[in-house]
Amino acid sequence: MPVSKPTREKLIKAAAKVRKLAYAPYSHYTVGAALLGKSGKIYTGVNVENAAYPTSICAERTAVFRAVSEGEQSFKVIAIVTENGGAPCGSCRQVMAEFGLDLTVILADDKGKVKEETTLRELLPGAFTPTDLPHDRK
Ligand code: THU
Repeated sequence: MPVSKPTREKLIKAAAKVRKLAYAPYSHYTVGAALLGKSGKIYTGVNVENAAYPTSICAERTAVFRAVSEGEQSFKVIAIVTENGGAPCGSCRQVMAEFGLDLTVILADDKGKVKEETTLRELLPGAFTPTDLPHDRK
């Protein structure tokens, strides 16, 4: 779904703002995400690293888990801000896919420049989603 300019700017601004709260003492790669729910509410998230490296969590998953924890499961757009407009990792793509492949994904750098605007369907072709699970399992 095409994103209006004000919505794009609002989400990038929210992601850039929250990015300052990222906890990334190991990689120093800070990430901020702003997820727009169908309700119009915005859920932000940052990456939170850990001394036991694999237990770290990405910004996108933080945002999705916050949204679900607050009762929202349908999303329109996510803006992700990093220093270089980097792409979301495979685990985050999978977590986002759980809630719909039509999600618009905006990747922006720390100057607010949009590096890419795409959809989750494009980013995760052949996704495994809830519809792939058999429903007659008891
Ligand atoms: N990171 C994210 O927050 N989102 C991604 O999709 C890519 C990676 C974080 C994880 C780790 O804290 C740091 O960026 C470097 O990998």
